[in-house]
Amino acid sequence: MTAVLSVASEAYPLVKTGGLADVVGALPGALAPHGVAVRTLLPGYPSVLSAMPDGETVAHFDDLFGGPAEIVAAAPRGLDVLAIDAPHLFGRQGNPYVGPDGRDWDDNALRFAALGKVAAEVGRGVAGLPAPDIVHMHDWQAGLAAAYLAFAPHPRPKTVATIHNMAFQGWFPASVFGALGLPEAAFGIDGVEYFGGVGYLKAALQFADRITTVSPSYAAEIMEPDGGLGLDGLLRARADVVSGVLNGVDVEVWNPETDPALASPYSAANPGGRDANRRALAQEFGLDVGDGVLFAVISRLSSQKGLDLLADAMPTLLGVGGTLALVGAGEPWLEERFSRLAAEHPGRIGVFIGYDERKAHLVQAGADALLVPSRFEPCGLTQLCALRYGALPVVSRVGGLADTVIDANPAAIAAGVATGVQFSPTSQGALEAALRRTAALHADSDLWTGIQRNGMRSDVSWDASARTYAKLYAELART
Ligand code: ADP
Ligand code: GLC
Repeated sequence: MTAVLSVASEAYPLVKTGGLADVVGALPGALAPHGVAVRTLLPGYPSVLSAMPDGETVAHFDDLFGGPAEIVAAAPRGLDVLAIDAPHLFGRQGNPYVGPDGRDWDDNALRFAALGKVAAEVGRGVAGLPAPDIVHMHDWQAGLAAAYLAFAPHPRPKTVATIHNMAFQGWFPASVFGALGLPEAAFGIDGVEYFGGVGYLKAALQFADRITTVSPSYAAEIMEPDGGLGLDGLLRARADVVSGVLNGVDVEVWNPETDPALASPYSAANPGGRDANRRALAQEFGLDVGDGVLFAVISRLSSQKGLDLLADAMPTLLGVGGTLALVGAGEPWLEERFSRLAAEHPGRIGVFIGYDERKAHLVQAGADALLVPSRFEPCGLTQLCALRYGALPVVSRVGGLADTVIDANPAAIAAGVATGVQFSPTSQGALEAALRRTAALHADSDLWTGIQRNGMRSDVSWDASARTYAKLYAELART
């Protein structure tokens, strides 16, 4: 049995802003059959602590960056969780990173230093908690754990750093360094120093024994300047310990045969059962769908996701007889743009601005095609859910989108393996061509249902990747 401490700032269903939470929440269950026992260390936000009313205090810190803290252990929702109960750092409602004014909390450097510091302590073994073999850090918020461990005495656990998104690097000015409690020697080019300040993701990539990211294509992209965003050189220097391991989805949470959010259950053997969901979706979004393609988006509204290109391409989407259902929240200018489009095209464009799990499930079950026109996408989970639910993914050929969707080109159609539509580059023109191509495929209903069936039968579970992580952990634990 390999014991892993997974360290992250989000975990579904306790706290979620994006796919990171889905992955951190699903991996423990996926790894258990492979001889890996995962404990998950999370900041004790109100939503986390309130899910652990029977939590047991297993360790105490007199002063964790400005106040006392406790580590509370419990098993909420099937996860084995350690939460850092530190009200001065985490006792704030709402989004884990930003305050009510929409700006990052100004003590985020200390909040996530605390996560890294506690991870390092638990990683080396604190009273009552046996030390794990591996500390697995997710994204920059957990990254400083690698630096604390690198400067801690032996014995210490091995470390894995997983990059879920290179665009978020956790950079803070040099003035925070003094408060971190790291030795002076840590502030250097081969330490936590990054562009004159402190880089939390940089620290993880500098010191972790192994580095993974969430798809093989993204692993290649981040070794180049465009994708690496300043860290490509470090990754190239450490290329021998970098790998890409695809995400999966929790096939219990995403199961069209049992999903309570659906109007009607269905399965890959009976995709016709989707019709009732298509009608329910059209009704909920006020769409007059007819025979055209019912396109959908479920996304954070950010420039990463390329949805400004979709807004520009709406005349083409409507021109091919399509309709659009969008569930999303994020940058205000994109929220306003899509709300305006919906107001201008009643019956053709339906928009829900906000975060709503039930709607996300119904949209996957009722839409004909799911659009993911990302400029970059480390893995992407919505296209995986779309495959499983029978919505054809229409995606840009980047990162994990390139690795998980098989484009319906003539060769793939002839071989009977196509699962969706890919386009490249991520531009308005290429997206418009993909919308036309999707409409043409849809007009051939036999071809369309064949592609849909291939998607529904493809394996989007964690099985293969859980095996890969288990092997990686076991190899590391042996060294
Ligand atoms: P990212 O993590 O970059 O946002 P992913 O595709 O990896 O992208 O994961 C996004 C996750 O968040 C998926 O589980 C998706 O269903 C969910 N999601 C995104 N936006 C919304 C929303 N507005 N309402 C409900 N779920 C959403
Ligand atoms: C990030 C990425 C997304 C990925 C998710 C989980 O949020 O943007 O592509 O699927 O992390 O790894």
